[in-house]
Amino acid sequence: MERTYPLAEAHQIDRARQLVGSARRILILTGAGVSAESGVPTFRGPDGMWRKFRPEQLATPEAFQADPRLVWEWYGWRRERVGACRPNAAHAAIAHLTFRNEDARLVTQNVDGLHELALEEAASEGPFKGDSASRASPIRLHGSLFQTRCTGCDHRTLDRGPVDVRSEASLPRCSECAALLRPDVVWFGEGLDPEILQAAMRLAERAEVCLVVGTSALVHPAASLPLLTRESGGVVVEVNPEPTPLTALAVSSLRGSAGKILPELLTVSAEP
Ligand code: OAD
Repeated sequence: MERTYPLAEAHQIDRARQLVGSARRILILTGAGVSAESGVPTFRGPDGMWRKFRPEQLATPEAFQADPRLVWEWYGWRRERVGACRPNAAHAAIAHLTFRNEDARLVTQNVDGLHELALEEAASEGPFKGDSASRASPIRLHGSLFQTRCTGCDHRTLDRGPVDVRSEASLPRCSECAALLRPDVVWFGEGLDPEILQAAMRLAERAEVCLVVGTSALVHPAASLPLLTRESGGVVVEVNPEPTPLTALAVSSLRGSAGKILPELLTVSAEP
């Protein structure tokens, strides 16, 4: 069934469609809200994880030092929960755009791997069948739930398996040096990988449109990327059910869920 909008919103969608449709260099910046309709909890907001859990006990280097078992228990639980989720229509619309247009690049704060799964799905079906999902792979600012990093030698390993948290001795260990492994995510108080951040900043600076989806825009430097686009003469389009600190600088702010709005915004209509 066709979705109907109040007049102002329909006008906004049309304007945003025009802006995004006529741009070549597009940066899509996503946050936890893009995965909300897949069943992945967001961090802030009424049901957000930071309402139930304390970040300083679970997502800091000090927390890991003090109690690695507790931290691994939380990440193991998230890995299991997120591992059961599937990409939604918003992930799919973004995947299709980044396949269609190689100058449309995705930068995500999410560690859930759902953008990557959507790319794999797009690469196995329809017009993009046979394309490599890695061609359009996202820049991950905050790492991945499904990757570990060695606390001794920095060796990284992909790992989607369950975590044995019965005791400190049973926690994951490095295959190279036997030191304790940690989730390869960015914790509070840690800096982002400088190369990853540089790459994201370059994309932000050269983007004609920065499309910001499902982020509260409270965590920097991710939340500063749209500012770079604005300062370089590009425009910001926001998709979020709630206003955020970025709303004031967005040329168009679309209120609603990513799963409904993105397919309408990004899907190319078939030629008559
Ligand atoms: P937040 O939980 O802070 O914000 C989620 C945003 O998504 C809010 O602005 C919601 O209004 C919006 N939202 C909710 N449902 C939505 C939907 N269906 N469609 C579109 N938007 C929706 O998550 P982030 O901004 O991603 O960092 O948080 C940023 C960082 O803070 C995370 O990467 C994480 C966290 O602590 C680290 O772990 C380092």
